[in-house]
Amino acid sequence: MWRRVAQLSSLVPSSKAFLRNQPQPPYGLQTCGAFSTEILKPAKDGVPTTTREKLPFITFVLGGPGSGKGTQCLKIVETFGFSHLSAGDLLRKEISSNSENGAKILETIKEGKIVPSEVTVKLIQRAIESNNNDRFLIDGFPRSEENRRAYERIVGAEPNIVLFFDCPEEEMVKRVLNRNQGRVDDNIDTIKKRLEVFNALSLPVINYYSKKGKLHKIRAVGTEDEIFERVHPIFTRMEVMKRK
Ligand code: C5P
Ligand code: MG
Repeated sequence: MWRRVAQLSSLVPSSKAFLRNQPQPPYGLQTCGAFSTEILKPAKDGVPTTTREKLPFITFVLGGPGSGKGTQCLKIVETFGFSHLSAGDLLRKEISSNSENGAKILETIKEGKIVPSEVTVKLIQRAIESNNNDRFLIDGFPRSEENRRAYERIVGAEPNIVLFFDCPEEEMVKRVLNRNQGRVDDNIDTIKKRLEVFNALSLPVINYYSKKGKLHKIRAVGTEDEIFERVHPIFTRMEVMKRK
């Protein structure tokens, strides 16, 4: 049976074996070249390098596969005027655009592993830079401490807040298997691997933001509206949301 996130220490040995097969830096470095003209200079002395006068308000949206990140993001977009950038969608778009990286990204997604951070961060950065909105939801990112550090290094900023949709594994598996979106990774074998990656690599990121006081943990069970009732006050109590 699937276990809850909090009870998954027994999965760690198998996760370690699995993680040994993660793509190593040379892959990241090779794939990086295609986007090199898009990179802004890395932050110097902690000052973010961006072409904007004012940094946008960035919300990272985290949670396991099927935890409802995308569904809740759509509601946040409608209510609070955010732009929604899903890291997974950006990667899938990259695959369908037949880019140089497409085949490798597809392989990585099929195996439920994490695409080299430089590739994903540059797609996110490009999407932010081409959109004038002052508020973004970055959904499904960072998936690992390495993702997080690459974002900080390349974009030169931290998120303002982080949402974590906390959902029992049984529920996540059920939702993913029922959603019929035609995704290559929505099958039981890949879901198991994605859950292993989530527990081994994404939970440390969630703990990191919790320690920094940026994390908002949301119980992600119930109807879409019930869950959104828990999300709504997080944004309404923020002064910055009144700018629109
Ligand atoms: O978030 P989503 O479920 O759409 O992600 C699908 C897949 O995209 C992940 O399982 C992973 O293979 C890849 N991904 C990634 N790095 C991210 C987000 C997604 O490698 N930050
Ligand atoms: Mg999604």
